[in-house]
Amino acid sequence: MNILILGSGGREHTFAWKIVQSPKCRNLFVAPGNSGTAQIATNVNIGVNDFEAIKTLVLEKAIDMVVVGPEDPLVNGVHDYFLNDEALKQIKVIGPQKAAAQLEGSKEFAKEFLYRHHIPTAAYDSFTKDTVEQGFAFLETLKPPYVLKADGLAAGKGVVILNDLEAAKAELKGMLIDEKFGKASTKVVIEEFLDGIELSCFVLTDGQSYKILPTAKDYKRIGEGDTGLNTGGMGAVSPVPFATPSFLNKIEERIVKPTIEGLKKDRLPYVGFIFIGLIKVGDDPKVIEYNVRMGDPETEVVFPRLKNDLVDILMAMANGTLRDIDIEIDERAATTIMLVSGGYPEAYEKGKEIKGLELISDAVPFHAGAQLDNGKIVTSGGRVIAITTYGKTYQEAIKKSYQNIEKLHFDKMYYRRDIGFDL
Ligand code: AMP
Ligand code: GLY
Repeated sequence: MNILILGSGGREHTFAWKIVQSPKCRNLFVAPGNSGTAQIATNVNIGVNDFEAIKTLVLEKAIDMVVVGPEDPLVNGVHDYFLNDEALKQIKVIGPQKAAAQLEGSKEFAKEFLYRHHIPTAAYDSFTKDTVEQGFAFLETLKPPYVLKADGLAAGKGVVILNDLEAAKAELKGMLIDEKFGKASTKVVIEEFLDGIELSCFVLTDGQSYKILPTAKDYKRIGEGDTGLNTGGMGAVSPVPFATPSFLNKIEERIVKPTIEGLKKDRLPYVGFIFIGLIKVGDDPKVIEYNVRMGDPETEVVFPRLKNDLVDILMAMANGTLRDIDIEIDERAATTIMLVSGGYPEAYEKGKEIKGLELISDAVPFHAGAQLDNGKIVTSGGRVIAITTYGKTYQEAIKKSYQNIEKLHFDKMYYRRDIGFDL
């Protein structure tokens, strides 16, 4: 088979790393890809939202299946684009159609879905600029901290949590009236604050049945001890030690099953990954958010533990035969530590040469914001490289990741030294 992956991050390098291990993959293309995917596949310099250029590439290279990495093209309808095109409609696309991608594209849509299907989540209400006064009144009924969420996609920045009521009102006004997040904040969801520890659950579906992948926990804040600004993710651990069999059973019964049933009832076709962001409140899981894709850097610890041929799984998802697949998981723990550009998630410099990659042993470096430049590997983004390792325990895996990081260097390289500190 010829396969095209859309995206350019650590997640997409991990997809590529896993797909090239399959004897069923003949040619693998990544658009636009990075220096990691360049070493194992063919990068094509096309943006993930340039559907016409993707069409030309797919037809020219006789692509059989497109695997969509990030949410943007899904929310913009890349799967629908294929289905509505005579020349493309036979080609398999992994990732939901636009209607179901609203689970990530609109917080309000996701909350309505959760409520409609009685799936545990935080209480909420939503507001627009015409109801901003009601929003202020709603905030007054809540206890701090106050959770405000821009309805639309805001590059991971649309959630603001504040302790002070007046600051929360000012933030609500900023989002609705001053369009702080542009179109993404023409609607704002205000939520009850949930206090607990977070984890991520990954589900595969063909629209009828589902399979659950190992859990993972990511570390979103830039600073040690979970302090400072939110990032795309600074590291991850799989499995999550506090996700006991009985807790996992609650997740499956109360959240995964009603989610899959809800998609069917609502007639939302879904072939792809569902990333359920969860919080453990007391001993009960509640949904914080849905994403319609795999997580990054969670993919860098979940896929390395997947023993199956990924192409078999993707084909089963596309063909509606997922129920016949037995998911096999490596017993070992996997951890990943993200190396980032100094300054990230605020302004940072690019183009720094990454040295020492050839010295890495017993670990897999998944490239994220890294590109080839005249034979050198240089930084091209905030999150640069994720160093994944296995261990009998997550502690052992983390130790190996840090030992390997000692061998790596680029100017102003930063990483958290406390991944797993709270487990
Ligand atoms: P999101 O962008 O939806 O992933 O939200 C970003 C982060 O905000 C989450 O990972 C949580 O840490 C936090 N968060 C979101 N909603 C809530 C909530 N209702 N209660 C507590 N924390 C929340
Ligand atoms: N690691 C969080 C995300 O992929 O959204």
